[in-house]
Amino acid sequence: MTPETFPGLVLGIETSCDETSAALLQGREVLTNVVSSQADLHARWGGVVPEVASRMHVEAIVPVLTEALGGRKPDAVAVTDRPGLVGALSVGLTAAKAVSAAWAVPLVGVHHIEAHILSASLADPGLPWPHLCLVVSGGHTELVLVESPGRMRIVGQTLDDAAGEAFDKGARLLGLGYPGGAKVQALAAHGTPGRYRLPRADVPGHDFSFSGLKTAVLRLVEREAETLDAASAALALQDAIVDALAATTERALRALDVEALTLVGGVAANEALRSRLSALSERFVAPPIALCTDNAAMIAYAGSLRLAAGERDGLDLDPRASAPLPGA
Ligand code: KG4
Ligand code: ZN
Repeated sequence: MTPETFPGLVLGIETSCDETSAALLQGREVLTNVVSSQADLHARWGGVVPEVASRMHVEAIVPVLTEALGGRKPDAVAVTDRPGLVGALSVGLTAAKAVSAAWAVPLVGVHHIEAHILSASLADPGLPWPHLCLVVSGGHTELVLVESPGRMRIVGQTLDDAAGEAFDKGARLLGLGYPGGAKVQALAAHGTPGRYRLPRADVPGHDFSFSGLKTAVLRLVEREAETLDAASAALALQDAIVDALAATTERALRALDVEALTLVGGVAANEALRSRLSALSERFVAPPIALCTDNAAMIAYAGSLRLAAGERDGLDLDPRASAPLPGA
């Protein structure tokens, strides 16, 4: 089943965290997907500073929108309204309402994690349903049974830190800076396998736990001091996170009756994780990197499916810091 899309140009807007993004979608075709990242700015503080994020979205939103639209008028607008930083979400929502009101086009709010999950269906129209999705981002680590675009059930999740947080906190302890995931991956390529070993939490069922890992990295850094081989430490960190994600995903795949496995979210950019998970299912989909990290094309697509189903939101749409997945 290929989900039905909205017939017309859909503008997507994403401002839930530290990326300001706008995209234009025609059916399943991504015409533009403009992303302006604040990550370098937040690096100075070692993480996202909400007030700074909001101000940067205000600066970036009009130029990003203008570039994505390229003089075209959209037929509908989809915007991330939940979950995320409320001040940051408000900037995108206000822009989306202005577009909707000025051009008299329909507006729909989109759940950020739902959009990450659906990015696999944007990348592969033939993706079978139901499928199991591993969502791994800076704030989320969840195994989701995706029955249809509007029906998703969480079957496992992290009990503490998200996988992206484990990469970011580990990276900080190794002196690599924020955001750490891509830096850990790059440095790990020069590491010696087996030089260090970090623990994998033993969590029953389909849940995850990564909080013990940062303590273990801290101990390793303190123990080795000047003799620390940072590349091998980065490799050990990546191995521990990838192993834990893969082991639990494999257990969930065995327990559930699904035809495919998908991998989405910022941490899905990790090559080691992509290659490990691809071995777990004959039908494996991980979207291209540009659709894995925060972007508005996935918001436009999730919105397009809701619009095609006849759903609309009013101009009273409010941002929400947290919200369950649709149909959960
Ligand atoms: O989905 P995302 O762009 O933003 C959130 O919604 O959180 O995910 C960001 C997370 C960060 O923790 C970042 O370190 C991680 O994705 N990340 C990676 C890689 N690229 C980004 N983690 C591991 N390996 C990568 N190559
Ligand atoms: Zn995200």
